[in-house]
Amino acid sequence: MLVEKNVPLQLSNTFGIVAKALQLVRVSGDADVAGLLQDPVLAQAPKFVLGGGSNIVLTGDVKPMVLKVEIKGKRLVGETAREWIVEAGAGENWHELVTWTLDNGYPGLENLALIPGLVGGSPVQNIGAYGVELQDRFDSLEAIDLETGQPFTLNAAQCAFGYRDSVFKHTSSTASSGAQGFGLLGKALITRVRFALPKAWKPVLGYADIDKKMQQTGICAPGARQIYDWVCDIRRAKLPDWQVIGNAGSFFKNPTVSPEQCADIIQREPKIVHYLLADGSVKLAAGWLIDACGWKGKSIGNAGVYEKQALVLVNRGGRANPVTGGEVMTLAKSIQTSVYERFGILLEPEPVVV
Ligand code: EPU
Repeated sequence: MLVEKNVPLQLSNTFGIVAKALQLVRVSGDADVAGLLQDPVLAQAPKFVLGGGSNIVLTGDVKPMVLKVEIKGKRLVGETAREWIVEAGAGENWHELVTWTLDNGYPGLENLALIPGLVGGSPVQNIGAYGVELQDRFDSLEAIDLETGQPFTLNAAQCAFGYRDSVFKHTSSTASSGAQGFGLLGKALITRVRFALPKAWKPVLGYADIDKKMQQTGICAPGARQIYDWVCDIRRAKLPDWQVIGNAGSFFKNPTVSPEQCADIIQREPKIVHYLLADGSVKLAAGWLIDACGWKGKSIGNAGVYEKQALVLVNRGGRANPVTGGEVMTLAKSIQTSVYERFGILLEPEPVVV
């Protein structure tokens, strides 16, 4: 078992923040975790599972032992009358998996093209874009209990998916009712994820940016590859490429309010962008709220608010003079204060602060 010391993490987080892992172990298969847990000292060490680093803010060197997930493999593992079941290693690049599924005739993930990160992170935050969430295409996953070394399987219900949420983001005490008091934060390492991709594929349309593409091109019955191309175009036009401008995607979740709260805000702010949800509550566009407070294009130190999408915080110092986690969090707190003072809504950050 090789334990690397003082490993630089700048290229392992999409913000490009400089920090080190004091101890790091690469996990390329279940045996690596088993080996680690057989060592009485290493077994006791607190652990932090690192995937693509696309949803974290590093505020200093990482003291828990970093388990860097590098488990590979993509294959069709089964089929039912209605679905193809595709399995991918947690260390596979998410976008490469989406491309591979289309190349091999298993459509269904195209709306989720170009999301940064690795496959193992996709169920943790139930990634979503352009009308599809991971939970809509999820079959099951394999994970290893980091205390006992026991492998286990979870189905969708056991993952307790919610909007950018799952059992992996909660301790037992903060678990949602869907998780029945069961939380796996810091307790498990996901090794493989299986996706259920519909044989009777239908496009998921209805999202404003996709509707615009349909109108512009006159294509009213797009195929999966067409939607993939559109989603890639839309994301490239709106969101910064982290390899060029460091960022962690949307920095805040879109908040949900009651219809009464929403009616009250609309009276004061008639232009507020909002969407009615199936359960009667209303989702507000956090990007609009931040934009309305005048933050677009603003910076604090090397932390900036992206010019084309106010929900995305960016590293303005590049690789040479990178933003610090402290600067990112100072900017985030200033934005939260402005939005709270004007709208009475507390924005909740999406990334994990380490
Ligand atoms: N808006 C503004 N100003 C801004 C940004 C947005 O007025 O600076 C308005 C837009 O005009 C639009 C609305 O807010 O009317 C929503 O914007 P957009 O369609 O860009 O989507 P979003 O709600 O900001 C969410 C996800 C994204 C996902 C897109 C597309 C969250 C937190 N973010 O963004 O996910 O790609 O929808 O489905 O739910 C991510 O999680 O990292 C992410 C990028």
